[in-house]
Amino acid sequence: MIFKQLFDNNSSTYTYLIASEKGREALIIDPVLENIEIYIKTLEELDLKLVKVIDTHIHADHITGASQLNKKTNCCTIMGEHTPAESVQIKVKEDELIKIDGLKIKAIYTPGHTSDSYSFLMNNLLFSGDTLLINGTGRTDFQNGNAKDAYHSIFNKLLKLPEETILYPGHDYNGKKKSTIGNEKKFNPRLQVDNENEYEEIMNNLNLPKPKLMDINVPRNIKLGA
Ligand SMILES: [Fe+2]
Repeated sequence: MIFKQLFDNNSSTYTYLIASEKGREALIIDPVLENIEIYIKTLEELDLKLVKVIDTHIHADHITGASQLNKKTNCCTIMGEHTPAESVQIKVKEDELIKIDGLKIKAIYTPGHTSDSYSFLMNNLLFSGDTLLINGTGRTDFQNGNAKDAYHSIFNKLLKLPEETILYPGHDYNGKKKSTIGNEKKFNPRLQVDNENEYEEIMNNLNLPKPKLMDINVPRNIKLGA
């Protein structure tokens, strides 16, 4: 397997490129529009063909590169079935497998940060979008976010995965690249709660400012960045 973790400095977004060594088919998770030339160059350098692009959810802090990548490479666009983005070509359901030549990625519905948030699991690698972050969790105060839904997605789905599962989040603001489910269970300050009400209390009192370009980014991302 070929694996690359790419970082967008403006939005602190992680984008993931996964490819099969044999068939040279590639998939990208959470591409950022400003960086698509970098992705295309990387694909060319590695002699890969982009076949699928996944957005974990409708982002508020950057514009997705999904539509442009689809235009330039003819790859398929994928999101979970709860997405409001009508132009997504493939809408996956809970537990559905996304396949590229020899590799399988399972969709896990993890609402809470937004009502359309999905996480994706490939073997022991978890791509959690903004549902579970390193030492943090995705905010739940817009885009139909809901702290109780987030609690259930995190505690009853993601934290039920084996402790050695490697966590690759959608963002990190402190330079951390990966973690494990075991580490987050033990050390993530947001997860040291006994029940959904305690979690809701934390999430409803974060008082975070709105992402700068949210009012532009969200409607544009509903069109996959077109
Ligand atoms: Fe997000």
